[in-house]
Amino acid sequence: MKAAVISRYGGNEVVEVKDVPAPVPARGEVLVRVHAASVNPVDWKVREGQVRIFTGSKFPKVLGCECAGEIFETGPGATKFRKGDRVVMYTSVRRLGAFAEYGCTSGDRVYPVTDGIPFEQAACLPIAGLTALQSLRDHGRIAAGQKVLINGASGGVGHFAVQIAKVFGAEVTGVTSGRNVDLVKGLGADKVIDYGNVDFTRGSERYDLIFDAVSRSSFWKCRRALAPAGIYVSTLPNATIVAQIVTTILPGRKARQMWVKPNGADMAWIMDRVRDGKVKVVIEQPYPLDRVKDALAASESGRTRGKIVIEVMS
Ligand SMILES: NC(=O)c1ccc[n+]([C@@H]2O[C@H](COP(=O)([O-])OP(=O)(O)OC[C@H]3O[C@@H](n4cnc5c(N)ncnc54)[C@H](OP(=O)(O)O)[C@@H]3O)[C@@H](O)[C@H]2O)c1
Repeated sequence: MKAAVISRYGGNEVVEVKDVPAPVPARGEVLVRVHAASVNPVDWKVREGQVRIFTGSKFPKVLGCECAGEIFETGPGATKFRKGDRVVMYTSVRRLGAFAEYGCTSGDRVYPVTDGIPFEQAACLPIAGLTALQSLRDHGRIAAGQKVLINGASGGVGHFAVQIAKVFGAEVTGVTSGRNVDLVKGLGADKVIDYGNVDFTRGSERYDLIFDAVSRSSFWKCRRALAPAGIYVSTLPNATIVAQIVTTILPGRKARQMWVKPNGADMAWIMDRVRDGKVKVVIEQPYPLDRVKDALAASESGRTRGKIVIEVMS
């Protein structure tokens, strides 16, 4: 099968699209015939070796953490799915393997795709979608009527967060650059701040929840912009750990770090919102598997609008 492979850590020069043997599903695993995969910042962080504590030093590795397609084969004891079922696969950073014609992982990291949702949209949902939902609901305790600010509202996580916060009935302010103001308005944000003109941390507005989807700010910078019982949630755990410890002890505003967790019920929740048109999947650009380096470079630029997709099979 064709796959995006690395044989050492490094820049884009270490990525090769080449033929490798297709994986064979072991006990409890399934093999997915991949139609589309989605790129996240974690993919180039894996390529660079930034998360080698999880990815280790065994090569070659097939890159990619999430994809969608059809069940091709099931390993012994994997009884949840049958050949031909439409699924989305969310592998761990230890396992990887989504940027390939066939992806293999444990059956409990594979979820059904709701009828009517195309593979290229489904492939975008596990990491960015679950991060947005779990950050707002579980860490930020979002509630109807709250004032919620999303920093990085035009990116993979942020564009889902704006729409999910609206589903929860919040009043949403999105922070983005000038070129993406219309995009964020179109996602349903009640207000949009162009960070090139206005620093939201210095304004007079107070927010019940600040979700820093791109983690370009910090709890300490955002503290003034939080209501007295407000919560700040960050997607970069290391940057927020001290603030979380301090604010857990002290009364008042809280800082929360998050790690996204695979969860079937949450996947189904997002799929249903996508099917009902409450959450749109914005795809900046689809790339063929042969151009995976361009897709990684686009993600690395930090300027992604919505999600980047790799089309593996049409
Ligand atoms: N902890 C976890 O479990 C977890 C899970 C998922 C993601 N993450 C992390 O979360 C971060 C975001 O992921 P993502 O997929 O959303 O990334 P992304 O799609 O690459 O984010 C790109 C977006 O960030 C915006 N942006 C860049 N600089 C900004 C700034 N100074 N202020 C506001 N917006 C800015 C860009 O908008 P403009 O071009 O308009 O500036 C662009 O739309 C990454 O670091 C990722 O690794 C963590």
